[in-house]
Amino acid sequence: MASPTTSIIILAAGLGKRMFSSLPKVLIPVCGRPMLLHILDRVQEAQPQARIAVVVGHQKDKVIEAVQSQKYSMKISFIEQTEQKGTGHAVKCAMQSDWGKTAVDKKEHVLVLPGDLPLLTTELVRDMTEPLKRGSALKLLTAIVADPLGYGRVIRRGKKGPVLRIVEEKDASPLERLIQEVGLSIYTFGAQFLNVGVAALKNDNAQKEYYLTDLIGHAVAKKRAIETRTWDIPEDVRGVNNPYELAVAAKILNSRVIKRHALAGVRFVSINDARVDPTVKIGQDVTIYPGTILEGSTEIGAGSTIGMNVYLKNVRVGERSEIKAGSYGENSVVGSDVRVGPYAHLRPDSDIGNHSKIGNFVEIKKSKIGEHTSIAHLSYVGDAVVGSNVNIGCGFVTCNYDGAKKHQTVVEDNVFIGSDCQAVAPVTFKKGSYVASGSTITETVEEDALAIARSRQINKPGYAKKIRQK
Ligand code: UD1
Ligand code: CA
Repeated sequence: MASPTTSIIILAAGLGKRMFSSLPKVLIPVCGRPMLLHILDRVQEAQPQARIAVVVGHQKDKVIEAVQSQKYSMKISFIEQTEQKGTGHAVKCAMQSDWGKTAVDKKEHVLVLPGDLPLLTTELVRDMTEPLKRGSALKLLTAIVADPLGYGRVIRRGKKGPVLRIVEEKDASPLERLIQEVGLSIYTFGAQFLNVGVAALKNDNAQKEYYLTDLIGHAVAKKRAIETRTWDIPEDVRGVNNPYELAVAAKILNSRVIKRHALAGVRFVSINDARVDPTVKIGQDVTIYPGTILEGSTEIGAGSTIGMNVYLKNVRVGERSEIKAGSYGENSVVGSDVRVGPYAHLRPDSDIGNHSKIGNFVEIKKSKIGEHTSIAHLSYVGDAVVGSNVNIGCGFVTCNYDGAKKHQTVVEDNVFIGSDCQAVAPVTFKKGSYVASGSTITETVEEDALAIARSRQINKPGYAKKIRQK
């Protein structure tokens, strides 16, 4: 059997004007990951040894940087298309580079993928990298869609006869626009045919662009065989050309992610009412309530529960923990058997030890909290190191900022801090110490000592009654 196609051109030079974004279209994220990387991920799964040419142009440095930040085993070259003169011109740039010359010399098959189909599947890439039949000029992927608006329409001889050409929406007659079979900008070409074909393209059309789609007509004129493959899952091949299509793609990708987790043992209280990035890891027996958003490198350990409307980005949660409704966490670590929230805020670099409790309206920032420690109500703990078996009462505040610098608070093991206390940092609460409610602590509290830092109470007999009588 012939070997699969491993020369792949990905078109990523376009402006994406219709997206109204300062980002180049291929870098706009879908479920947290740039469109182009979704495509490269699928190609990597299907053909890890592929030789890729990414055609770049608009904001090319950003596009190159995004790809190079990834660890792919594929060999990726970047080809510059200095002016965006159309899909055919983009492929011509690739074919006339050293990358293209190698493909021609080795008589390879070349798969072309657009950079704006982020829902592409591994199966589709595998299918299209199957070798062409002997003598075929190309294989064309089409789909029958309910709403063909914006796509190139596939013109066949008769209804189901051989393909004759593809006509772009803007060049199509009203009758041609009714055709529901569309081209998807996914093709596999013989390198030699592609090389000669793109060199001969003309731009005598409505958009004054060099259309890659014109190669179909070119093959017909040369009496070369064209294979067609109709993909029967239209959602795999939905393009993203405007913000609405971006939102639709995100929804489809999200439901794929939710389905994958649900089949692996995650319980979604209301299916598709959560948003989970494809990069998120979730263990077994995890329950997720509606409105939850899990992003980036977030990981949820087995048996944990994530309550309603929780937002976690790059947060690692251990096993059997519970993040209750309305809590928000970023770049933090939560241990096992921990309770967080409702309405808690874990700012970056918070690390909550096993069996601890972070209660409602508690904000933690850049702080390490030990095990079996409780900060249960209405507190701010910033730039602190808090030990194990510590109990912090309601309304505790670390005064960590003096207007110029941040200072550290250290609370050692077994400390008990009463309600409504302030720690004016830098300050240390030594092992086993007690702090009376309402204290403002400015100096070290010694080991096993009781600190009281508040003014004494004065009672003035009958004074209140006197005021009332006035
Ligand atoms: C293209 C097809 C259309 C097909 C549709 C499917 C052409 C002429 N039209 O239209 O038949 O139905 O895709 O999604 O091929 N690009 C470059 N350089 C350029 C122009 C575009 O690299 O000079 C890249 C873009 O970044 C994008 C891809 O090519 O990733 C497709 O370009 P786009 O403008 O989105 O083409 P469509 O109008 O969608
Ligand atoms: Ca497109």
